[in-house]
Order: sequence, then C-alpha cells, then structure tokens
Amino acid sequence: MKIQGQPHRAIEADHSRRVARILDQTFLPHRVEWRDLETVEGAAEAIKVMRVRGAPLIGATAAFGLFFALREDASDTALQRAYTMLHATRPTAVNLRWALDRVKRAVEPLGVGHRAEAAWGEALAICEEDVRTNHAIGKNALELFRAAQSKKGDTSTPLNVMTHCNAGWIACVDWGTAISPIYQAHDAGMNVHVWVSETRPRGQGASLTAWELREHGVPHTLIVDNNAGHLLQRGLVDLVIVGADRVTAQGDVANKIGTYLKALAAKAHQVPFYVALPVSTIDWNITDGLRDIPIEQRSAREVTHMPGIVSDGRLDEVLITPPDTAARNDGFDVTPAGLVTALVTEHGIFAANAPSLAELRP
Ligand code: MRU
Repeated sequence: MKIQGQPHRAIEADHSRRVARILDQTFLPHRVEWRDLETVEGAAEAIKVMRVRGAPLIGATAAFGLFFALREDASDTALQRAYTMLHATRPTAVNLRWALDRVKRAVEPLGVGHRAEAAWGEALAICEEDVRTNHAIGKNALELFRAAQSKKGDTSTPLNVMTHCNAGWIACVDWGTAISPIYQAHDAGMNVHVWVSETRPRGQGASLTAWELREHGVPHTLIVDNNAGHLLQRGLVDLVIVGADRVTAQGDVANKIGTYLKALAAKAHQVPFYVALPVSTIDWNITDGLRDIPIEQRSAREVTHMPGIVSDGRLDEVLITPPDTAARNDGFDVTPAGLVTALVTEHGIFAANAPSLAELRP
C-alpha cells in the first residue's frame, strides 16, 4: 500500500545488501521510520518489542531472521539456536512457528554451503505468498460486504464496518487480512465507513489502523474500546471483521484482547462477526482454544503508562495511575467458534467448525 503516495511493503528485502528493511511501528503514527534488520538478534528484538507485529508479519520477519543466522553459521546447532531464539519472542501468533518450520524444512536437507541462500529464497517466497493470500482474503470478504450492503438496501448511507486492533497491511507484508476487503471495497467505489477501536493498552487501532486508513483515504471514526457494545446495540454497525493470531482446528479464534467482548456484543445484536485469516494461522494440532492457546502476558507498564507526543514535541509516555498500581496485561483473548459467523480465508469462506475447516487441512 502507499505511504504519502509511495508504494511500500511493511517488510522489504534489499537484495544487493541482503538485509530486510522494516517500517518501525513503534514510531507510528507520529513518524515514518525505516530500520534495517541484518542479524538474527535484530530480527528477534524487532518482533519482541513490536517494531513489527501482527501474525503474518512476525512470521515473515522470523524467516529473514533464520537467513541472517545461517549467513553467519549454517550448522545444525546454529539453525536450532536461531529457531529457538526467534520462536521465544512472542507466544500467541502461530504464523511465527509456521514460518520458522517452513524455512527449517527447506534448508535442513541441504549442505551447509547452500542453506543461507535457500533461507533467503524461502523468506522471499513467504513474503510474495503473503501478498497474494491477503489480496485473495480481501476479495472473498468483499462478497460479504456486498451482501451486507444489498441487505441494507440503501447505498447512500455507508456500510459501517467495525474492526479491532490492526489487521491491516502493516500487520502483514501487504494488504492486511481484515482491512484488505475494506481497501478493496473503498477502491471499488463502495460507500464504506470503519469504526476503529482504540485497542488499549498498545493502541494498535488508534495509532496504526487509523494511520493506515487515513493514508488510503478510507472514512473512519476512532472509538474507545468500551464504545463497541453501545454502537452494536444501536444498529450503527453492519458487520464486524477482525484478524486472528491463532485459530484452532475447530474454529476458536485467538486475537487481540477485547475481540471476545466485541464478538459477544455482535452475537447479542445479530450483527455478523467475521474473522479474516490466512490458512497459515490455523493451528491444526489443537482444538480447544481456551485450553490450548498460549496467551501472551505483557508488561504492566503498558497498562499504567500511555505513550504519545508530549508538549515539547517529543515522543514520550506518561503515568496514568497511582504509583505502583498492580496491572495485568493479557495480550490476547479467545473467541469461541460459536460466536464466529464465518472465517474468511484465501481459499474461500468457511463455517467455524471442525468439519468445515477440515477441507483446508494441508
Ligand atoms: O499484538 P499484535 O499487535 O501483534 O496483535 C495483532 C493482532 O491481534 C492482529 O489482529 C492479528 O495478528 C492479525 S494481523 C493480520
């Protein structure tokens, strides 16, 4: 997608220098800063501190991370050490493991002299596939948008879409998952408006989704997370669409904390609740999301402090609680399959249950 009119991807390969250039998301929406990743430690740090985030982008970054490690030392021991380091960065999004396994599988049978080059090729392939996959997800979800628009019958009022967190192009290599159909609807001339929920504590909605939609000219309104139920109750939302970090074989969905509450409220008010995901987000080894999906525990400081631009123009953070207030910071929650209207993948639209998803099993 574009930043100030220039096409970009959230991670870009520099072929001559063999480095990966990332858009450093810790500075958004205030500054657009790019950063070169050239070591496995740098890739792991970028994932850990969320310079890159979003399930598909974490996977793509980790794939480059394995290349950087193998460039230094392509032995089995170094491969395993790099895999373990990258895998430990964030626990919930399964795309991280998926991408690491894919690169590992590609390089392991090769002689050490060929491994690094093969890893670079596999990382590039993951990125190219991600772009195609997300475009296809958007195309499939667009059909649901069109159906909702014609059910509404009135094209003079916008189709009101609610989303949570950031499942846009900067959560992936390009296009996004949940935001991909929004871009495609807007580009096709559909009258679409997005309710963007703030997504405390990290504020991915306020700082990232709002930034993306503004860059692309898509009409949107920021709401505090607690406003979602109110808007759904008043008939001001036509559909909800979110991304996912891990989906079980029976369709339970782990996504950013707060997703579950939106799904509950959508169900109560008969508003469709869609989840957009690449098939690589399905963890075929597990069925019960509540029992089996590891939920990332993040620093209490993200809850007790708010980042932003302070009065002298610096990027800083301010304390918003009494000193030493105890805070809990679960990064994700699990929405049971029964609350999900449908799962939208690159291969089509599927009911959130085991028999339906079995068609997608590799
Ligand atoms: O903690 P984050 O910002 O990495 O969480 C991101 C999300 O929860 C997204 O909704 C999810 O990864 C899907 S991104 C296409």
